[in-house]
Amino acid sequence: MRTIKIFDTTLRDGEQSPGASMNLREKLEVALALAELGVDVIEAGFAVASPGDFESVREVARIVRGSSVCSLARCVESDIDAAAESLKEAEQPRIHIFLATSPIHREYKLKMTAERNIESVHEAVIYARRFCPDIEFSAEDATRSEIDHLCRVVETAISAGATTVNIPDTVGYATPTEMYERISTLMNRVPNIDKAVISVHNHNDLGMAVATSLAAVLAGAGQVECTINGLGERAGNCSLEEVVMAIKTRHDVYNAKTRIITPKLVPTSRLVATVTGLKVPRNKAIVGQNAFAHESGIHQDGMLKNPTTYEIMLPSDVGFQKTDLVLGKHSGRAALADRAKTLGFELDADQLAKVFVEFKKLADRKKSIYDDDILALIEQNIHEQPNNSNTTKEVWSLVAYNLQCCTGGEPTVTLTLRYKNKEYTKEISDGDGPIDAIFLAIRDITGADISLKEYSVQSVTGGQDAQGEVTILINKNGDTYRGYAVSTDTIEASTTAILNAVNRILLKSELRVQDSELLEN
Ligand code: KIV
Ligand code: ZN
Repeated sequence: MRTIKIFDTTLRDGEQSPGASMNLREKLEVALALAELGVDVIEAGFAVASPGDFESVREVARIVRGSSVCSLARCVESDIDAAAESLKEAEQPRIHIFLATSPIHREYKLKMTAERNIESVHEAVIYARRFCPDIEFSAEDATRSEIDHLCRVVETAISAGATTVNIPDTVGYATPTEMYERISTLMNRVPNIDKAVISVHNHNDLGMAVATSLAAVLAGAGQVECTINGLGERAGNCSLEEVVMAIKTRHDVYNAKTRIITPKLVPTSRLVATVTGLKVPRNKAIVGQNAFAHESGIHQDGMLKNPTTYEIMLPSDVGFQKTDLVLGKHSGRAALADRAKTLGFELDADQLAKVFVEFKKLADRKKSIYDDDILALIEQNIHEQPNNSNTTKEVWSLVAYNLQCCTGGEPTVTLTLRYKNKEYTKEISDGDGPIDAIFLAIRDITGADISLKEYSVQSVTGGQDAQGEVTILINKNGDTYRGYAVSTDTIEASTTAILNAVNRILLKSELRVQDSELLEN
């Protein structure tokens, strides 16, 4: 089985995604994550492009061990000098030089004859070899270059000393079949082709970057250039996680493997999404939040019987903890019974039927059904609590708050809560801001030993009178509880959301007590 080299260009082509620029600290964090992921080559930047780029290539080269670090350069001596200088401290340096070879680029951009094009490749590779034994040459716009000319370019680059020759589909124009044919032709026609690794670098303008890269692998390419989350110029580059998992999952077809430690794919994808601010779509293959989530009743039933019915990879193979059987309006009884069981409740057929009817009604009103909603449904329908029309039983409720804050000073909050018809008031002058002060006051009054894990406010509608939708996650003894509230007053919504979560904790512990009492009797 061949090992395909993975060349990651998130820090160079990926950073060319509009809006994706990263600062030095972020680039170093990503570079270390890429090295841990097991990529063979990290393209750290284009050293001559700016002093900032030079500095980041130099720092990446200084700290990365275990992967080659490379800098891009045009076929210009000053570019190659800058690349070589920036890579001085690299454990495994690579200089990556490129020149466009297509007639469109030669005529309009470079104003260069085909003959001069070949000479430039030769001179640049010879020059770069003075600094470094590992030289990659890229024939920019290779897929729109005349095949005869491209064969000469590749042969010239290899005879001048290039150890990798890259055939980029710069504008994302090639189809997988064309790419297969192009690489096969090079393999058959270039006499010294066995002296270098053939690489591809495919853009995603027609959504085919992964497919064309895989076609190239089938035809004999030994390196794929790609980016985390498919970032890159315009529509992006071949997505690293997709191409790697395709090779791994269909090794029967590709007869190849990579060195990528695939359980690190999701954490690396999240890191890149965080530092670039370019969020991963939920339905993105491999690393999207829905990649291992099933909502349809038929699929959930199949998954519970045997996960291979609807999953071709293990979630843990890419770094997800587990499959997510999302409870929503398409879910069936099997999934509901399974979730209830996970939450500690074995429902008999009658109980399940009853809870299922209410569950479907709730699912029509609410997009996502959380574990606490299920607990509340069980509580209402199995334990039949009277006077409880809400999905969450209100135990603690807000009576009033009075809040004073000023710039640079500690907030003061006076909070009054009601519990079983009795009121409790607490004044607190502490906290990192108004929400923290409210949280501390709630903790004090309710005695709940909780910590805030996540807090988010979103505006439900536009406009000045928009409602604030607060979602929080709190932690108690390692368990996570969600709280949710909406109000035009975000402080009130935050307070109610925290109380909502505290009430869910109470509800859960009460239910468990009732259950164990029932069992004991
Ligand atoms: O898309 C492209 O052709 C490139 C080259 C510089 C490799 O990014
Ligand atoms: Zn590119």
